[in-house]
Formats: sequence, structure tokens, C-alpha cells
Amino acid sequence: MSADPASLQARAGRSAPGLLAGALDSGVAEPVLEIRDLSLEFPVFGGAVCALGGVSLRVMPGEIVGVVGESGSGKSVTAMAALRLLPPGGHRITGGSLRLCGEDVLAASEARMREWRGRRAAMIFQEPMTALNPTRRIGDQLTGVLRAHHRLGRREALERAEALLRDMMIPDPDRVLRAYPFELSGGMRQRVMAAMAFSCDPALLIADEPTTALDVTVQRQVLQLLRFRARERGAAILFITHDMAVVSQFCDRVYVMYAGTVVEQGPTGQVLNAPRHPYTRGLLDGLPERAAPGSDLASIPGRVPDMRRPPQGCVFSDRCAFADDMCWRRPALEPLPGDDLQRRVACWHPLPPAPAAQALGDVQ
Ligand SMILES: Nc1ncnc2c1ncn2[C@@H]1O[C@H](COP(=O)(O)OP(=O)(O)OP(=O)(O)O)[C@@H](O)[C@H]1O
Ligand code: SF4
Ligand SMILES: [Mg+2]
Repeated sequence: MSADPASLQARAGRSAPGLLAGALDSGVAEPVLEIRDLSLEFPVFGGAVCALGGVSLRVMPGEIVGVVGESGSGKSVTAMAALRLLPPGGHRITGGSLRLCGEDVLAASEARMREWRGRRAAMIFQEPMTALNPTRRIGDQLTGVLRAHHRLGRREALERAEALLRDMMIPDPDRVLRAYPFELSGGMRQRVMAAMAFSCDPALLIADEPTTALDVTVQRQVLQLLRFRARERGAAILFITHDMAVVSQFCDRVYVMYAGTVVEQGPTGQVLNAPRHPYTRGLLDGLPERAAPGSDLASIPGRVPDMRRPPQGCVFSDRCAFADDMCWRRPALEPLPGDDLQRRVACWHPLPPAPAAQALGDVQ
């Protein structure tokens, strides 16, 4: 019988903060992903969509890092750029740098990128049907990946595929290996995708809204499993979501994105307990659990800006209740006096800090 992720986690007795602390203590830790000041645009008729306007983001070994923001804020573009998955002719990188495990992604050859995808960083998409081949059995697809990356024989690859599916708590791996993707439920397909992503033991897993299409119970199971298996292997996760509740339950640190920029970042407990950017506050106020019974959910007034003409000043100024003349200039993302140095906010009028006791608390 399979054990549940929580009991497995207790048995493994390792945690990402532990791994991270070890890596930092040894003085050899380098980020698995480091994005610095990345600007990217999509040429469109009559101009360009400025999808990213100077995004900086770092994931250390073993960390689970969330990226949260409304639709169109640039979360997926950031993730796709990290693995150079955007169509080459369809976008322009206008500034910044990207490094995977210390090496330059923008300067790497396509052959080198193919080697790194899967081994250094693997991706799980929201809809596994877009990544799985509908005409091939799961077994052929999974063993194909294993044989390509590990030079395994057929039989060995099959055994490894079965073990990976068991790791993902799939109770009858034989049946799943023989199945076509359309024969599986959404939750099962997402577990198969996760098994495939882990098959090359990547240092980083990028999960772009991996469970948005699943019902709440299945979503929770899949997320717990992903987190447990990543912790067990010492892999980091970059978790992309629009859901603050998912961030609070699963991420060590969080980046809040808006209109192609990071507006706030920091340890999850600190950012969620005491947001200092009005946009983060707005996202949190929209959580159903924060609404009074019978009342409407709070929502941030207005809409995300048209990124063909991005705002010159603060990107949130059109929707911000605190905007004044200062906000015509773009605020830098920087630490605030008295705050943890990991915490940064891009706002001229940040919200007040939490009382000391609350700032230390964790929402997880
Ligand atoms: N191929 C493209 N051509 C033109 N614009 C694009 C293209 N892909 C993305 N964009 C634009 O880039 C911006 C960022 O898009 P992105 O897909 O990263 O948003 P997101 O934060 O992932 O949103 P969602 O939560 O809806 O997935 C948006 O303004 C989007 O319209
Ligand atoms: S800089 Fe100004 S407009 Fe932007 S979030 Fe802060 S107060 Fe609001
Ligand atoms: Mg997206």
C-alpha cells in the first residue's frame, strides 16, 4: 500500500530549508536559476508588447519559490524565457541575463539547451495534454525520455518508468504505462507529467499553474506530492500560480509580479502576513477566506495595463488608492529600512510593517 506524502515526508526527515542552509554553510551554493533585470518584448503589428520590464529573480538549491500575479503579469513568459522555450523569431530580449546552474542561458547553443532541459530544469505545464503526445502510450513516452537522457536499455527504462509512476502515488503503473493520455483523468495525467519531469533528476522544476485545471482535493494531493518529491531529491521548484492560498501552503519565498515587473518579494510568511505593496494587499484581500460570510469578494479595481504602452511611472498607479505625484516616477525594487534583507518592495509609499511578533509568524 502507498504511504501518503505527509508520512513519507516525516520518514525522509529532510527539508529544503535544511538543504539550503547546508549549501549556504558550505559556501558553494549558487542559484539554480538567476534572472537579472530581464526585459523582453513581443513584436506586434505597429509596435511591441513589453512583456517583461526588468525582472530579477533567483532560486537557490532546494528552495520552493512562488511567482504570483494576475493574468498577463508575465509569469509564464519569465518561466519560458528561463528555459529558452519562447519561439525564437517571435520575441526580443532587450536586456538582462539568465543563468541556469551558473551558466549563461542566452549564450548557450541549442544543443546545450536541449541537454539542460530535463537535466538542469524541467517544466510542468498547466495542461499536460499540450506536453504529452496524444498518439503514443504513456510507457513509450516515459521510457523514451529516460533512454534519451540516461542511455538505458528497454527493460531498465521500463522498470525505472514504473518506479517513477509509483513515486507519484500512481497505484497501478502497469495500466498507466499501457494507456494513452486521453484514457487518464486530469489528475493522473498531471502525475505522469511530474514523473516525466523528475525522470532526469533536474536541479529545478518549473511548474506553471500545474494544478489549476484540477479540483481542489486532487490539486492539494498533487501539490503535496510535488513538494515532497522535490524535497526528497533536493530539487528546487519555481511555482507559478495566480493563487495566494497555494503560495501560502507550498512556497518558502514568493515574488509578486505585476505588469511585467516584480513589485514585492520575500519569505512567504512575511509577505503574506504583512504585505508592503498595495497590489499584494489587494491580491490577499481577494481571498475567499478573508471575506465576511455573505459579503462579496474584494477585488482590485481597474485592469492590468495594456503592455503595448506600459506605464512610465509606477506600473500599479492606475489602480492604486495611494497614488500621488511621486508615483509618476518608477519606484525601484529595494529593501525597506528595518525589513529582512530578502524582502524588497517597489513602492514610494509602502504599507506599514507588521508588529514584530506578527512579522516572525508564518502563514504556512
Ligand atoms: N506570443 C505573444 N505575443 C504577444 N504577446 C504575448 C505573447 N505571449 C505573451 N504575451 C503577452 O505577454 C504578457 C505576459 O504574458 P504571460 O503569459 O507571461 O502572463 P501570465 O502572468 O502567465 O498570465 P496567466 O496567469 O494568464 O497565465 C501579456 O501581456 C501577454 O499578452
Ligand atoms: S508607488 Fe505609488 S502608485 Fe505605486 S503602488 Fe506605491 S503608492 Fe501605489
Ligand atoms: Mg501564464
